[in-house]
Amino acid sequence: MNSTPVLELKNITKRFRTLQALDNVDFDLCQGEIHALVGENRAGKSTLMRILAGVYTEYQGTYVLDGQPVHLHSPHDALARGIGMIHQELSVIPELSVAENMFWAAAAHPFGDGGLGQNECCRRSRIG
Ligand SMILES: Nc1ncnc2c1ncn2[C@@H]1O[C@H](COP(=O)(O)OP(=O)(O)O)[C@@H](O)[C@H]1O
Ligand SMILES: [Mg+2]
Repeated sequence: MNSTPVLELKNITKRFRTLQALDNVDFDLCQGEIHALVGENRAGKSTLMRILAGVYTEYQGTYVLDGQPVHLHSPHDALARGIGMIHQELSVIPELSVAENMFWAAAAHPFGDGGLGQNECCRRSRIG
């Protein structure tokens, strides 16, 4: 397994008005790794993942992808770089497989070649 991080969040700080949700958080992800982000309610888990997935675009700190600093502009931008997020609770579609839930936006995309299809969803949902 390659120990060079493919994704690094460095010194991430996020405020919502006066509320400090994240204070200098670091997170590294290497190819093939699976992480569990654990913490009490309001610890900032969702906020960090929303930054990672391009939902929150205003924060302090550095986002590094494959060794290059990047600034994601949207979830669509993140998805185009292979970063997707399954949001908590009501956003999972029970009729779809895990792979299809991960890539349903791309699979259902009305433009292009008519979507990813189930095999491609499964291929892309593999770790590593
Ligand atoms: N959109 C938002 N506007 C204002 N405060 C927020 C917003 N999202 C999260 N927060 C606050 O930021 C802190 C971290 O929340 P969150 O990231 O949802 O924590 P967790 O997912 O670990 O429960 C909490 O105090 C929460 O109330
Ligand atoms: Mg949460």
